[in-house]
Amino acid sequence: MQPRCGVSVCHVLMLVLCLSAAEDFDWTKNNHGSFYYGTFPTGFSWGAGGSAYQTEGAWDKDGKGLSIWDVFSHKKGKIQLNDTGDSSCESYYKIKDDISLMKEIRLNHYRFSISWPRIIPTGVKSDHVNGKGIQYYDELIDHLLENHITPIVTLYHWDLPQVLQEKYGGWQNISMVNHFNDFANLCFEKFGDRVKHWITFNNPWSVAVEGYETGEHAPGLKLRGTGAYRAAHHIIKAHAKVWHTYDTQWRGKQKGLVGISLSGDWGEPVDISNQKDIEAAERYVQFYLGWFATPIFHGDYPQVMKDFVGRKSVQQGLGTSRLPAFSSQEKSYIKGTCDFLGIGHFTTRYITHRNDPTGRSSNSYFTDRDLAELVDPRWPDPGSEWLYSVPWGFRRLLNFVKTQYGNPMIYVTENGVSEKMMCTELCDEWRIQYYKDYINEMLKAIRDGVNVKGYTAWSLLDKFEWDEGYSERFGLYYVDFRNKNKPRYPKASVQFYKRIISSNGFPNQREVENWRRKAVEMCSSSNQLLAAEEQRSTAANILRLIHDPLTSHMEMVTEIVVPTVCTLSILISAVLLMFLLRRRN
Ligand code: NOJ
Repeated sequence: MQPRCGVSVCHVLMLVLCLSAAEDFDWTKNNHGSFYYGTFPTGFSWGAGGSAYQTEGAWDKDGKGLSIWDVFSHKKGKIQLNDTGDSSCESYYKIKDDISLMKEIRLNHYRFSISWPRIIPTGVKSDHVNGKGIQYYDELIDHLLENHITPIVTLYHWDLPQVLQEKYGGWQNISMVNHFNDFANLCFEKFGDRVKHWITFNNPWSVAVEGYETGEHAPGLKLRGTGAYRAAHHIIKAHAKVWHTYDTQWRGKQKGLVGISLSGDWGEPVDISNQKDIEAAERYVQFYLGWFATPIFHGDYPQVMKDFVGRKSVQQGLGTSRLPAFSSQEKSYIKGTCDFLGIGHFTTRYITHRNDPTGRSSNSYFTDRDLAELVDPRWPDPGSEWLYSVPWGFRRLLNFVKTQYGNPMIYVTENGVSEKMMCTELCDEWRIQYYKDYINEMLKAIRDGVNVKGYTAWSLLDKFEWDEGYSERFGLYYVDFRNKNKPRYPKASVQFYKRIISSNGFPNQREVENWRRKAVEMCSSSNQLLAAEEQRSTAANILRLIHDPLTSHMEMVTEIVVPTVCTLSILISAVLLMFLLRRRN
């Protein structure tokens, strides 16, 4: 998620901008409509993903410890409708069911994350390792492999053990580096014989900014201007340490790869003839993706971050920059710690230069960048408030990665779109359009020479969407959260994605149009099925509501009235008997 305040300012600015400089938007026109028919390289890996807290449920089962998300989501007012991930999709109990959904699409890989507190309840390995947690991931991995689906495993998708937050302040504290390394080491030991693709962190930008700067995510801290930088600093060190651990202790026998998954929106200059806008757009991407990628590929933070945060810190009268510095030893230790780069990408912004205030009270990661984010009102935005469909931004971002970081091996680890609807809608034509266009831009990027090896549709299932609860649905499969069995239903996009996979791309216009048509035809029958099922469960719920007072009434009758009446009758009979006996005597 992106901070909402940024987006609303965005809207206002955007309108002004469109009225005054409509021409500036049109320069991208050439990219629109130029669909490229062709196929992906042989062996390209197609997948879908999810993460532990978002899908597993079973939050307190089989010895699992609490995570910061368990605690955060149970606090009132943090999550839409006060929802929690307590049961979510119940994927913990549905390994086989979910794998059959993956088989239906013919996925080559499935991306999931391991819940740290499920296997180490307190987060500290020497305290206790939870055998049942290990067993669950063992089964998941084994079943995937039996079905020829490659597991791509994330070690940290945001669910830090709560004990580590309480004792040490979580990612604010350098001690996380060693605790995380112990956890990773345990995962390599237990699962590394079968898992060959490891992702240390998922989207550390979100962990740092939303967890420690805006507080919208767990642990909910608002340490503006410093918290995000400190969290990111420790995360980068933790990533590097885990990569070295794998490299020195496990790579020889396990022969796997260790990467990181970074998120990045693309930032396009509003006015490409304005140097200030060009620099602002570059800054936007450097403060986002470059914040993590530059140290990992080049050993240090992007120069522009050091300059901007450093200058503002001086203006604020601080002795040192709010952006921490790496020592030269640390720089060489961190540089090159990436066997592949995971990219999570959803959307794009137009960027223009803006001088933000520098006073101490306005300290923040956002104002450090001196820029404004804008959107084009013509961009489709079917779901999440922040998510506009801008496929051409994807190709640009991938090319940026190629040129900035020496053409690394890339796996797209997240890409997809949500819908807001709380009601049933399986005919997701807008999602088909989104996937079609974004995947096509990825194909163009591969033709440009970008080294993309795999693509992960986000996500396999509708799931807990962090602070948005269940109000945003990203899934290829619809999950009926109101039903306690959490049944899954295919959306139309399942059929469409399946075709892309089986053709390894887009053969020709006629065929691709046919896929779309057939997918939409098929979804209407699933829609009816789901609607009928929903009606049935609504009726059942109503009956339960009516039935409930009756049941409690009956319980009262059996538990209180009947024994009381019985006791009274016995007493009365006894008194009567005694009275009769006396009279006879
Ligand atoms: C990125 C996060 O990694 C993922 O968990 C989330 O579902 C998507 N953003 C969509 O918000």
